[in-house]
Amino acid sequence: MKLFKLFFLSFLFVIGINSCQNKTTDNIKTSKQTNNPFDVQIKKLLSKMTLEEKIGQLNMLSGDWSVTGPTIRSNVAKEIKEGHVGAMLNSYTAAYTRKLMELAVDSTRLGIPLLFGYDVIHGMRTIFPIPLGESCSWDLKLIEKSARIAAIEASAEGVDWTFAPMVDISRDPRWGRVMEGAGEDPWYGSLVAKARVKGFQGSNLSSDSTILACVKHGVAYGAPIAGRDYNTVDMSKRTLLGVYLPPYHAAVEAGVATAMTAFNDLNGTPCTANGWIWNNLYRKQWGFKGFVVSDYTAINELVPHGVAKNLFDADVLAFNAGVDMDMMGEGYISNLKKAVAEGLVSEKEINRSVYRILKAKFELGLFKNPYKYSNEQREKNDLMTPEHLAFARKDARESIVLLKNNEHLLPLSKKIKSIAIIGPLGDNKYNMLGAWSAAGDRYKDPVTLLEGVKNKLGNRVKIRYAQGTGFNTKSTKGFQKAINLAKNSDVVLLAVGESNDMSGEASSRAYLNLPGNQNDLVDAILKVNKKTVIILMNGRPLTISHLAKVAPAILETWFAGTEAGNAIADVVFGDYNPSGKLTMTFPRNVGQIPIFYSHMNTGRPFSPSNHYTSKYIDSPNSPLYPFGFGLSYTTFKYDSLSISKQEITTKDTLRVSVVLKNTGNYDGTEVAQLYIRDLVGSVTRPVKELRGFRKVFLRKGESKKLIFKLTNKDLSFYRKDMTFGSEPGRFYVFVGGNSNTEYKRSFWLK
Ligand code: NOJ
Repeated sequence: MKLFKLFFLSFLFVIGINSCQNKTTDNIKTSKQTNNPFDVQIKKLLSKMTLEEKIGQLNMLSGDWSVTGPTIRSNVAKEIKEGHVGAMLNSYTAAYTRKLMELAVDSTRLGIPLLFGYDVIHGMRTIFPIPLGESCSWDLKLIEKSARIAAIEASAEGVDWTFAPMVDISRDPRWGRVMEGAGEDPWYGSLVAKARVKGFQGSNLSSDSTILACVKHGVAYGAPIAGRDYNTVDMSKRTLLGVYLPPYHAAVEAGVATAMTAFNDLNGTPCTANGWIWNNLYRKQWGFKGFVVSDYTAINELVPHGVAKNLFDADVLAFNAGVDMDMMGEGYISNLKKAVAEGLVSEKEINRSVYRILKAKFELGLFKNPYKYSNEQREKNDLMTPEHLAFARKDARESIVLLKNNEHLLPLSKKIKSIAIIGPLGDNKYNMLGAWSAAGDRYKDPVTLLEGVKNKLGNRVKIRYAQGTGFNTKSTKGFQKAINLAKNSDVVLLAVGESNDMSGEASSRAYLNLPGNQNDLVDAILKVNKKTVIILMNGRPLTISHLAKVAPAILETWFAGTEAGNAIADVVFGDYNPSGKLTMTFPRNVGQIPIFYSHMNTGRPFSPSNHYTSKYIDSPNSPLYPFGFGLSYTTFKYDSLSISKQEITTKDTLRVSVVLKNTGNYDGTEVAQLYIRDLVGSVTRPVKELRGFRKVFLRKGESKKLIFKLTNKDLSFYRKDMTFGSEPGRFYVFVGGNSNTEYKRSFWLK
C-alpha cells in the first residue's frame, strides 16, 4: 500500500539527515529556509527526483465535472500516473479527490501527493455574502470566521488550497470582479486580507481543517483601463505602491502560503512575466516564502500579450520571472525540460520552485496522510451544519447596508395583514448566491426573500409573490399581476438587481443601471403602493440615482449567501438593526467612474462660483452614496472630538477621542470612522484617508467615549523620493459615520 510507502519514506528522510547530500540538493539554497522543519525531508525527496518528475510538480490540471458528477478524463489520469501533475483544480468531494490522489500516490514512482485547489471565495457549501458585501460589515472577526468555516467545509470535501483571498483594490464598479474583494480602500483592504488569510490557514496548516490560502491577483488586477476585465493596467509607481500593493503585502505578512499572478499587463509587462513583482517585491522585499501559481493559462497568454513569440518563450519568461506553478497552461510540462537543456532555465531554479511546492505539501501533512482531506465522514458531518447556517445568517445581516429610509418606513411591523414580494429576485434561488459560489447548490440551498418572509411571519400574514419582470427583457407582461398584488397589500418588498452572472470574472458592464426594465417596474409599483421597500441584490455598486429619488427605502443586500432571505427578513422586520457601511463608493452615473473618496484635491477643486474648476457640466462631482455610508434605524451623534496633543513627534502616539451617542429610538450599532488629511506634502496627498474605525453597539440613549490611536506609520506615505515615511506639517483628523464627515481637529507633526 502506497500509504505505507510514504510513511516509510518520511521515516527514512528523518534518519537519513546526514547521508543524503548530493549534487542536486547542494544546488538548493536554503539559508533563508532554516526555520522550515521539513527542510531535510524536502531536500532528500528532491534528490531522488528526475528533472521530469520535478517539472511535473509545477503543473496544475483541472478535474472534470460531468452532468451528473465528476469524471476523470483519461488524459488527466494518464498525466497524473506518469508523475506529470503536482496539483489539481476544480476537483472536490471526498470520493473524487481520493480517486485522483490514489493515482498519484499509488502509480507514480515516488508517490508524491497532489494538491487540490479550488475557488472557495465566500464559502464552500454554506455560502456567505460575496466578499464585497461581507466587507461592509466592518467586522474583522466575522470575516475571519467565515473564512474559517469555508476552510472547514472545503477541507471536508478534499480541498486543501483555496484561491482566495482576492485583495485587488477596486475603484471601478464596471469591473465585474469588484464583488470578490473588500472594496476601494487600501488600509481597510489590508486588514481584511489578513483576516481572511488567518481564517483559511488558521495557526497550524497541518490541522485537518486548515487549508492553504492564495493571495491574488498579483498585482493591480483591480485597475484595468475602462473597467474591462483582463485589460491593461497603467499606473504610476506611487499609486501602485501606496494604494494597490498594501493588501498583497498584508497577506504576505499574515503568512499566506501561496500567491497567484494577475492576467493583466502592468505598465508594459504582463504580471505573469514580471520578475520585479515575484522575485524582487514578493520574495526579496516582503520575504514571501510560499509558491507562486499563474492564473488560469496566464502563461500562455503572454503570446497574445505580445511579449513572447510562442509558448516556449512564454514559459521561459514566466518561470524566470518567479512563477512556480503553471495553472492549466500545460506549457511548463512540455517546455521546461528543453529550456533547461538549452540553458535558458536553470535546474537550480526548478529545484527551488519544487522545494516551495513540496514544502506546502509537507506543511499540510499530506506526506503523513495524503487522504486526510478526503474524509467521507467529515463530508457528511461538516457541511451546512446548523452552526454554519446560523453564522451565515448573522454574517448576511451584518453585511446589509441601509441606503435610504424615508419617514422610518423600515423596520416594518410584523402586525401587517398582507405583504407583496415582487421582483426578479424575490423568489429566485438560482440567482442569489453571486459568482464563485463553490459547491453551493444554487438550485436548492439559498433561502429566498419570499421564503425568509414566510419563515418570519408564518401564516398570520397574507404573503403573495409576483416576479413582475426579468433581468434582460423589455416585456411588461408580468407587470399587471405585480401591480395588482402591490395595490392589495399593506406593504411591498421589491427585489431588484443583477442576475448572478452579471458580476464576477469576465462580467464587466458598461452600463450600471438596473438591467432590463426593472426601473419601470419600480415606478409602476410605487404608483400604487408608496410603502415599497427596495431590496437590492447585486455584485457591485450600481448607478441607482432614479431609485434613490423615487423609492422611500432601499436596502443594499448584495448577494447575501445561503441564508439571504432569512437575514433580509431579520433586518426588514427589525430583529436586526442594520449596521453595514459601504466599502465602495456608489457613483451617480458611469461618467464619474473611477470614483473613490480618497482622491487628490487638484489645483482647482470644485467651487460652484467658479466655472474653471474641476467638475462635470452635466453631473455633480459627489457620489450618490459615499464610502463608509450606511444608515441605521436609530441615529448617532458624534460629540466632544478631542486630540491628546496639538503637536506630536514621529515617536508619539496621538490619541483621538470622540463621544458617540445613540440619539434615536432603537438600540443599534455604528461603525465610527477616522480619516486623516496631510495638508501639505512633497507630493499631493489625498483629501481623506481612512486610518481607524470602531464598530460599537449602543442602547438607545447610551453614549460611549471612543479612543483611536494614530502613530507615525499612519501618517506615512511614499514621498517625493519614493522613500516611505511621514513629513512634518499640519494634519486634519476627521471622525464620523462616513467619509463625508467634516467633523475635525488639526494637529502638527514636528
Ligand atoms: C481565473 C481567475 O482569474 C482566478 O481568480 C481563479 O482562481 C482561477 N481562474 C481558477 O478558477
